[in-house]
Amino acid sequence: MLCFGLLHIQKITLGSAMFRTTLILALCAATSVQTAENSFVRQLTQPTRDFTKPEPSEANPAGTATAPRGAGPKAFSVPTPNLATSKEVDFKLGNALFRREWQPGQGVFSGLGPDYNARSCEQCHLNDGRGHPPMGPQDDAVSLLMKIGAPAAGLQTYLATLPDPTYGPQLQDFATHGAPEFQLQVSYAETTVVLSGGETASLRTPTYHIENLSRGPLQANTKLSPRVAPQMIGLGLIEAISAKDILALTDPDDTNQDGISGRANWAINVETGQKMLGRFGLKAASPTIRQQTAAAFANDIGISNTLIQNGTEPPEISATNFDFVAEYSAQLAVPARTGTADKTVLRGKQLFYQTGCIACHRPKFFTDKLPKRPELSALLIWPYSDFLLHDMGAGLADGFPEGVATGTEWRTPPLWGIGLSQDVSGHTTFLHDGRARNLLEAVLWHGGEAQAVQSQVVKMPPQDRAALIHFLNSL
Ligand code: HEC
Ligand code: HEC
Repeated sequence: MLCFGLLHIQKITLGSAMFRTTLILALCAATSVQTAENSFVRQLTQPTRDFTKPEPSEANPAGTATAPRGAGPKAFSVPTPNLATSKEVDFKLGNALFRREWQPGQGVFSGLGPDYNARSCEQCHLNDGRGHPPMGPQDDAVSLLMKIGAPAAGLQTYLATLPDPTYGPQLQDFATHGAPEFQLQVSYAETTVVLSGGETASLRTPTYHIENLSRGPLQANTKLSPRVAPQMIGLGLIEAISAKDILALTDPDDTNQDGISGRANWAINVETGQKMLGRFGLKAASPTIRQQTAAAFANDIGISNTLIQNGTEPPEISATNFDFVAEYSAQLAVPARTGTADKTVLRGKQLFYQTGCIACHRPKFFTDKLPKRPELSALLIWPYSDFLLHDMGAGLADGFPEGVATGTEWRTPPLWGIGLSQDVSGHTTFLHDGRARNLLEAVLWHGGEAQAVQSQVVKMPPQDRAALIHFLNSL
């Protein structure tokens, strides 16, 4: 081990030689603890090669912050266990505000709109789970959000898209008075995919119909980026991963030649003015839970807040209430896994690792020590994501750049809890726009950097494909 502090310290005269020696030893010890800790963490987060039995802690994907695996619609609505009592109260208040339907006009819990997509966070993040596209001709498109914008000159900037001059950064299908901006209709075309062993699957390609635009046409070069609300669990843990651990996984030029080149997105933290790694949102364009929450209030519900204000008016949600919602969003617990020792699950796990899913869906991280969130600190967690951007091919492309993300790139979504989607949300639609109707369809849509992996899934024996899906359902 090298003790870097040494040379510098020896040049400083510190009075007593005794004190100097003690200081040097203390510094050396701290450095060595750090080094030992780093190599310990590196070892701990290496993907396993042994698929004969579950790994010691994998049944609890958030360590001591894991919630018991519930069933039914409330399975994602559990706070982090071991929350301090005072924080439990805050969580309950945040929960109430997350579900609260905002009203038009002035006063507490008012200020909805004038244009909006939903009246509450909950209307999109159903039961703290994911949203869905319209489930039939009678269903609405509330939890499917249409971001819009025109690609700006100089893609490698933070402002890769400019908002539409009339409609802003997203289209809103409700208004407190007058005609809403638009109505969204989705239609699908089916394509059959032939799989090994005489199996087939059908993939539906969506077409988005922007109807009844009430304020004139969109700018000619405005792109559409349809996005379904993602699940809300484990977000505080994702925020607790050190940026350097995520950045260590980037490989923009694919120097290891595995065909996979994760890229980081970047954003300005509006609270500090600093450039930060983006990790939230479907293109990782948002750096913090607070910033994503602020954007949701401002853009989705039409509620100004301490981060995103409306001119000089006081914010429509108080700073305290805003903090409750943001902290609530950070403290929804990840549920325990099921059947980790099951033979089929272990076989599916092996396929998940050996087929190459883990090149993007990274199994493990170790969270930082956060003074303000001790309950989420220093935990081995299993999100199955690298939180980086990947080119997923033309089939999934929206042509909408965001931050440094291109029109074909998406952030690898975390997969923890994905097996509970049916319980929580009453459906199993997946991917950024909910086009996949089950997990197999979601995998079969993988193209671009994931094309080779997708082809292996198409070719593997049917019982292996079933085992892979069984593994996903155990998460
Ligand atoms: C109209 C639907 C809608 C509403 C209402 C809504 N969200 Fe979202 N939410 C989304 C979509 C879509 C995304 C993905 C955004 C993106 O890709 O930029 C998202 C992403 C998020 C994320 C990041 C999750 C992740 O995995 O990166 C958080 C946190 C979040 N929302 C919190 C909230 C909060 C808090 C509220 C209420 C103030 C709220 N949302 C209201 C649709 C909605
Ligand atoms: C090149 C990186 C990459 C590889 C390799 C990869 N994925 Fe993905 N995966 C992604 C990205 C990015 C998305 C989101 C795409 C979208 O929403 O359009 C995704 C989405 C998913 C989803 C849907 C998640 C959700 O919340 O909607 C599942 C399930 C999934 N992947 C499973 C797999 C499996 C199984 C494999 C291996 C056979 C695999 N992935 C390989 C990057 C990858």
